[in-house]
Amino acid sequence: MAQKIIVTGGAGYIGTHTTVELQKAGFDVVVFDNFINSDPSSLDGVQRITGTKPELERVDCADDVAIADAFAKHSDAVGVIHFAALKAVGESVEKPLMYYQNNIRGLMNVLDNMNKHGIANIVFSSSATVYGVPDVLPVTEETPLKPATSPYGQTKVMGENIISDAVRANPNMRATLLRYFNPVGAHPSAEIGELPLGTPNNLLPYLTQTAAGIREVLSVFGDDYDTPDGFCVRDYIDINDLASAHVAALKHMLGGANGVNIFNLGTGRGVSVMELIKTFQDATGVKLNYKIAARRPGDVPAIWADATLANKVLGWRANVPLADTLRNAWKWQVKVCEKNN
Ligand code: UFG
Repeated sequence: MAQKIIVTGGAGYIGTHTTVELQKAGFDVVVFDNFINSDPSSLDGVQRITGTKPELERVDCADDVAIADAFAKHSDAVGVIHFAALKAVGESVEKPLMYYQNNIRGLMNVLDNMNKHGIANIVFSSSATVYGVPDVLPVTEETPLKPATSPYGQTKVMGENIISDAVRANPNMRATLLRYFNPVGAHPSAEIGELPLGTPNNLLPYLTQTAAGIREVLSVFGDDYDTPDGFCVRDYIDINDLASAHVAALKHMLGGANGVNIFNLGTGRGVSVMELIKTFQDATGVKLNYKIAARRPGDVPAIWADATLANKVLGWRANVPLADTLRNAWKWQVKVCEKNN
């Protein structure tokens, strides 16, 4: 019998791609999602890729009663991948309590129910945001964490600490904390991808929507940073590579890795905003309307990952070239536009 994995937020951007990789690896996936920031049709996309629609529980992790019922129904699961969370930095500053309610209460409920049913393994979506403005680049997992600059970032730091304490108190429990850099792209089939609600905050969905004519112009935030070309530098990791890291992390725990393991998930390469724009134009042949604008408050000038630990311990590395990632993102954007017309 296939081992069952609960994927909270499994209908979202990272959740759908990870569900595909889990199914391809032979796991039986149950998605817990309240569709607050996703659409049930994304699971049809998963089915078109793998031939299997994951089982679905429409449930909010922060709803104590509903989540307990869902866990009771799936107490035979061997692990949980916990994606369900809110993720907009600016919104979290305006609505901090909503972020703590969703991200912290949701996580506490997941951990409580895992303990109750003896489900031992959790993979947690953390973020490079825990490093703040790093003093030394690239950042390794040993790089000291900085105080969070937004309630969103705070929920990631707190989430890591809560899980670490829970594992310390229960030797049967194991956790992997994955610190994502900047996930971008879509599945090469264009059956699944990112579906931002409203105006995107993140660079790539804004860029592809501008290229598609949905937005008039992409504002490039700042050209006077102390970086090689003056633009902000990030580590853009392909969403399919990111997804496969979750499978590697899960197998590592199911294989007996104890305690709390922490991994950076990035490519190890810093890419500037302008470099990304140029690579997009070259890879797709699409001309992008952009303008230089003021710096965005709160932006870190440069951050990229040292991703060697994940390679050494999990045997995982990011493989997809950036041009392919950007072509996939564009293919997905074109498909979404066709569907909406
Ligand atoms: N950018 C633009 N124009 C835009 C949007 C973004 O120039 O319209 C630039 C930003 O200034 C930044 C880069 O593109 O230099 C990437 O910005 P994103 O908003 O896509 O991503 P961030 O690196 O700011 O945010 C990511 C995650 C957050 C996390 C944060 C800090 O999306 O969840 O990293 O680690 F909190």
